[in-house]
Amino acid sequence: MNVGILASGGGSNALALIKAMQSGDINANPALVLSNNSNAGVLQKSRDLSVATEVVDHRPFKGDRAAFDAEIGQTLAKHQIDVVCLAGFMRIMTEGFVRTWEGKMLNIHPSLLPKYTGLNTHQRAIDAGDTKAGCTVHMVIPELDAGPILGQREVDILPDDTSETLAARVLKEEHILYPAMLAAYINKQ
Ligand code: GRF
Repeated sequence: MNVGILASGGGSNALALIKAMQSGDINANPALVLSNNSNAGVLQKSRDLSVATEVVDHRPFKGDRAAFDAEIGQTLAKHQIDVVCLAGFMRIMTEGFVRTWEGKMLNIHPSLLPKYTGLNTHQRAIDAGDTKAGCTVHMVIPELDAGPILGQREVDILPDDTSETLAARVLKEEHILYPAMLAAYINKQ
């Protein structure tokens, strides 16, 4: 199975997935890292691991999300991608694109879904007085950060946590959860 990873930033989750595939912990091939941001750190880090990269900049599409998604789809097809992992990909995909990939597209979200969809998850958990935070891997459906949950990992929220310290602790769990959930998903295909 060829896995395509979509990422917009530093890509620590993308790298965790790539390393797990390259070590054989996940029975799949890291065939492509695709970013909408040509400056994303994930691109060079992926090339350093001999993974193919592509950039599809969203800006020239000027808000035409369907056209942007069509270009993403063509790029995935060019690399013969079977499974898509969203890993900090900061674009919302159109319903049509998501339907095309339904059952074959996973996402990681830094909260214990269904709590705190969207952004600023850690601050919202702290502000709510929660004692637990965490991360979720789920299948992607058109509704944002919804879709069947494949797994979660929890951390305690400490009294002196800031959104930054909490995010760092959750991110470590993300790097364990995402490869484990992708491995389990691939094994079921
Ligand atoms: C992670 O917290 C992920 O859950 C969220 O965006 C962040 C991406 O971090 N969707 P990284 O680029 O994988 O380091």
